Amino acid sequence: MQTALLAILATGMIAFAVLFIFSLVIVAVHHRTQGAMFVPTPAVMIRSLTDAVDFSGFKNIRELGTGDGRFLTAIEKRYAVRVIGYEINPIAYLMTRMKILLYGLKSRVFYRDFWHEDFSDVDCIYCYLFVDIMPRLGEKLAHELPRGAMVFSANFPIPGWREEKVVKATDTIFNDPIFVYRIGAHTEDGDEPRALLAGQSHVR
Ligand SMILES: C[S@@+](CC[C@H](N)C(=O)[O-])C[C@H]1O[C@@H](n2cnc3c(N)ncnc32)[C@H](O)[C@@H]1O
Repeated sequence: MQTALLAILATGMIAFAVLFIFSLVIVAVHHRTQGAMFVPTPAVMIRSLTDAVDFSGFKNIRELGTGDGRFLTAIEKRYAVRVIGYEINPIAYLMTRMKILLYGLKSRVFYRDFWHEDFSDVDCIYCYLFVDIMPRLGEKLAHELPRGAMVFSANFPIPGWREEKVVKATDTIFNDPIFVYRIGAHTEDGDEPRALLAGQSHVR
């Protein structure tokens, strides 16, 4: 009885310590994430996205904030293409690194702030960030990404952009939208999405 109580107490203390450290890290990186804290995209949403989009044709995929590495892992496992990711939460970064090692992936994650990266040779971006930073993100991506590049944004739309498609999981709880954009067709005066899609459609 006493041993069982001690075991419960020890488990509770470990859980508390883990949660405490996790919260401390979230607070410590808050000034850089600006609200886009470590919350993973639900697995059903990633499955719906990978069903809806053929990622095998992309040459240079980047993930802005890898979290626990579940998008990056799913893409390389299913489509055999590597993803380059950035993460500034040290716990999330280590989780992604461990998954890459565990599954022997070619994908890479950098412990870096993605705002300092240049995306001018990138043809695919995946992100799940936060509503407050979407206007700034839209400006950066519109400025740097080449025509035809695709942007997948979980939960939060990019203000002023026209989506080509919205992917939604059929799950009753985790069915938040993933907005799909194509550079060149992302503004009202951009080309017709269908015209840009010709010959190089990744979206099913
Ligand atoms: C909502 S989570 C999404 C994680 C993952 N992309 C997913 O979909 O499961 C956002 C992640 O972005 C990271 N992040 C936010 N701002 C960042 C920045 N400027 N540079 C690198 N990572 C960032 C956070 O630390 C967090 O882990």
